Amino acid sequence: MPRTGVIITGGASGIGRACALALAETGRPVAIWDRDEAGAKEAASFAAMNGATAVGVALDVTDSSAFPAAVTATRDALGSIGGLVHAAGIAGPRAVSDLDESAWDAVLDVNLRAHALLTKAVLDDLRQHEGSAIVGVSSIEGLVGQAFVPAYCSSKAGLLGLTRSMAHELTPIRVNAVCPGYIDTPMLTGATGGDPGFMEAFRKKAISGRLGRPEEVAAAVRFLMSDEASFITGTHLVVDGGATAVDR
Ligand code: NAI
Repeated sequence: MPRTGVIITGGASGIGRACALALAETGRPVAIWDRDEAGAKEAASFAAMNGATAVGVALDVTDSSAFPAAVTATRDALGSIGGLVHAAGIAGPRAVSDLDESAWDAVLDVNLRAHALLTKAVLDDLRQHEGSAIVGVSSIEGLVGQAFVPAYCSSKAGLLGLTRSMAHELTPIRVNAVCPGYIDTPMLTGATGGDPGFMEAFRKKAISGRLGRPEEVAAAVRFLMSDEASFITGTHLVVDGGATAVDR
């Protein structure tokens, strides 16, 4: 496993938080970039309990003007930057028939555009270290369609295209994505509006018959960030309990 620092966006909650903790457990310094400042600092404190260097940075990933200062502060705190995990994301449910431009832009900006601009911001750092890697958190909804979330599906499918393009351009930096299925996080709970019927439907979609845990996605991210994945680039790993393997 490289020893360089990793930036994890969206690390204050859910999948991003689990990624930060999983990487910190392997001894990698982590910087948690999230618009939720208190959550980012809390996650960093938790990550540091195992002895890893960890910092929380308050940042909105749609504000690229804030990236240079955040990169400098992160490099100073971690000593190096050799990895990026873009887990920040928003769902933004809205049917095409009811779509407005700002709703579309909001989802695409966080889920897709930010990944390209974040990568650009850390590129010089990543290029300085052997074994640097990038992972974007896509979704099975980037692979299969889901009604009423057209912007979300588009952003997650776009992230897979961006992953392949950046892998080609940026080699030897490895660039991959993960496609989680239905994972038990505040985002999923929010998407159901608290309706237990929806939650049950999500559970049933997986062959495993349950929701995934954030740690199960983080394990895949940790693998893709590690030298164990040294010949894996330009692709995605599906972590969905088999939801996309069957027709139901
Ligand atoms: P979550 O809502 O628990 O965490 C998302 C985090 O992103 C939060 O800490 C939030 O503050 C941060 N964030 C959102 N917009 C931001 C912005 N503009 N700037 C900085 N930080 C921002 O959600 P969850 O479920 O952990 O999602 C993480 C990623 O996983 C997202 O990209 C999501 O689309 C993806 N995903 C989630 C699935 C699920 O079932 N929970 C399934 C497939 C993909």
